[in-house]
Amino acid sequence: MTDTIRPSEGSPTGHLTGFGNEHSSEAVAGALPLGRNSPQRAPLGLYAEQLSGTSFTEPRATNRRSWLYRIRPSAAHPPFRRIGNGGLRGAPFAEAEPDPNRMRWNPLPEPPAGTDFVAGLWTLGGNGDARHRTGMAVHLYGANASMTDRVFGDADGELLIVPERGALLLRTELGVLRAGPGHVALIPRGVRFRVELPDGTARGYVCENHGAPFELPDLGPIGANGLAAARDFHAPAAAYEEAAGPVEVVNKYCGNLWAATYDHSPLDVVAWHGNHVPYVYDLRRFNVLGSISFDHPDPSIFTVLTAPAADFVVFAPRWLVGEDTFRPPYFHRNVMSEYMGLIEGAYDAKADGFVPGGGSLHSMMSAHGPDRETFERASAADLVPRKVDDGLAFMFETPWPIAVTAQASEAPFRQRGYDEVWQGLNPHFPS
Ligand SMILES: [Fe+2]
Repeated sequence: MTDTIRPSEGSPTGHLTGFGNEHSSEAVAGALPLGRNSPQRAPLGLYAEQLSGTSFTEPRATNRRSWLYRIRPSAAHPPFRRIGNGGLRGAPFAEAEPDPNRMRWNPLPEPPAGTDFVAGLWTLGGNGDARHRTGMAVHLYGANASMTDRVFGDADGELLIVPERGALLLRTELGVLRAGPGHVALIPRGVRFRVELPDGTARGYVCENHGAPFELPDLGPIGANGLAAARDFHAPAAAYEEAAGPVEVVNKYCGNLWAATYDHSPLDVVAWHGNHVPYVYDLRRFNVLGSISFDHPDPSIFTVLTAPAADFVVFAPRWLVGEDTFRPPYFHRNVMSEYMGLIEGAYDAKADGFVPGGGSLHSMMSAHGPDRETFERASAADLVPRKVDDGLAFMFETPWPIAVTAQASEAPFRQRGYDEVWQGLNPHFPS
């Protein structure tokens, strides 16, 4: 397949900024119709196509759709056929009995040579039902080959991709984005994309959100600024391929993978406008807020993006200054379920065992918090202002229990002795 992506990729000027904006972009001057969406003849002989991410009648504030002006309509394809799911599993997750135990895993093992992003997806668990557009799924990925002549789209939900190792070049219908460790990429439901690996290998995490799309959280008393700024989300400028030749379009549909062989690249959108668009966001831009007196707020203060089915929370470098305060995350049990991952370094509530590329799951009402070593150290620490800047951890938090897949429950890289980190927390009463 001949690659003719344009314009120049990776250019800062090739991005559009602002989360939730009505963006517009054209790779060729005059490709975008003015004043209407579907003229009798679209400019430059292009086909007009609407891609809706929400129902037509969704209230204006939450309505998502984009108009695409493409060389050939997406409708021009032969039937989709079922292909193997590999390590992907779909909601509802009913293959293993829901397990209230706390769980932790080491990173995915290296995949076989020639594994691309789609083949490298491996489902840990989730909740809800993709057929009812409820709930979420936690996937991991490990890949060592770029996708070639293959494009992926997820009808079941949007994909929040969290690279941990290796950059991803995301060639989407709406243009090209690059996301490396420390960035997140958000691919809306149904948007097709191909993943190339500039570093040769890649590993990371994916939150698949089956429900209403992620939004920036309301700020309430925080005011007009703080946390993630809308202007730091970058959408791509239009870029297109004119490649002829067979391209396998893989569609995740109601939990399973299907594929159709197009006779051209479906990444042939020359111009577009709308708000159903992919983004990248640099987590280092997150404006971390916290206590400047005592205690610390609930971790929801670190929410980057929120949706009914999932919140994405980042534990970014920050100062701890609380007086008479146990500074690491406190012991807690909560109705929400928490999957945590580590992008780099260490996390301040776990002395060891929680490693980059690995993850932990604390499902509904399971008791967790700092391990013994962290508790003892933090209880005796001299409470001078201290910067926590030795790691970047994140959490996918969801209101409903996360059921793990059989492969996650039985994985040889699951840490069977995880409960032991809370052993030795002996009584100190009476002190
Ligand atoms: Fe927690």
